[in-house]
Amino acid sequence: MEKVALVTGSSSGIGFETALALARENYFTFASMRNTDKAAKILEIAKRENLNLEVIELDVDKEESIKDAVKKIQEQKGRIDILVNNAGYLLAGCLEDVSIDELKAQFETNFFGVIRMIQEIAPTMRKQGSGIIVNVSSVAGRIGFPGTPAYISSKFALEGISECMRYELSPFGIKTIIIEPGVIKTNIFSTMKLAEGKPDSPYKEITEKVLNGVKMMAEMGTAPEEVAKTIVKARQTDEPLPRYMVGSDAVMFLEAKKMKPDIEFENYIKKELFGD
Ligand SMILES: NC(=O)c1ccc[n+]([C@@H]2O[C@H](COP(=O)([O-])OP(=O)(O)OC[C@H]3O[C@@H](n4cnc5c(N)ncnc54)[C@H](OP(=O)(O)O)[C@@H]3O)[C@@H](O)[C@H]2O)c1
Repeated sequence: MEKVALVTGSSSGIGFETALALARENYFTFASMRNTDKAAKILEIAKRENLNLEVIELDVDKEESIKDAVKKIQEQKGRIDILVNNAGYLLAGCLEDVSIDELKAQFETNFFGVIRMIQEIAPTMRKQGSGIIVNVSSVAGRIGFPGTPAYISSKFALEGISECMRYELSPFGIKTIIIEPGVIKTNIFSTMKLAEGKPDSPYKEITEKVLNGVKMMAEMGTAPEEVAKTIVKARQTDEPLPRYMVGSDAVMFLEAKKMKPDIEFENYIKKELFGD
């Protein structure tokens, strides 16, 4: 039977590579994106490699857009075997500089967007008695640091619901996987939004310091293809683990978090990020 994949945010970066990787694994892949004007590159590769990949419009912020896309997939294929919740963006700025509206917008995409997708697709997977839901979180879903609290809290929340989902969905044959990439070389740092803040913000210096550090790390970041490979590998496992880290930085930070007491870990992060 033909297997069907749906990936959100496939216009660039991790979503782009994951959609291609799943199509190369013989999934009929719906590479969804909110702006289909960006579809040319992925379609060109799919055509060249003779892949079963179709671009579909889907904005995770909009319930109607999700419903329309899922209806189209249902009518065309009647099933969804793997859903990769990848769409997301980065809002930078220390907490006092972030307005409630900016914070809500960040959660609208990175957190509620994922929930909307799951609520729309889980019924299909339950009926099938099978399916895999992959939530693209981040190392920032398990480690807090200054400069991007809106993004970090959206990923912490995503980790929380992912843990709950594993218990709730597994009796119906649905597997949930969390992916925790470190710094990956994608557009996320060039397209990130900066909280408006106040012109005389006392947090300007620390925000700049963190962002410059992360941008420097991004220059040497892991390729998005590595995240795609991890997703492909995880879905091949009968009993996938709850979490998969991607990148040596992810492993280093998350292992340190596991091993060190809280205060010691905080000092370690200060040293790594600011050389304090
Ligand atoms: N890069 C990293 O270092 C890193 C590390 C850990 C986790 N992640 C996570 O990986 C995921 C993908 O990010 P990336 O690094 O590949 O960045 P990216 O290249 O900027 O890709 C982000 C994708 O999400 C899409 N998107 C944003 N808002 C959307 C919405 N409302 N509806 C549908 N699509 C939307 C973007 O579409 P447009 O092209 O239309 O903007 C784009 O396709 C994100 O969840 C991010 O948090 C990234």
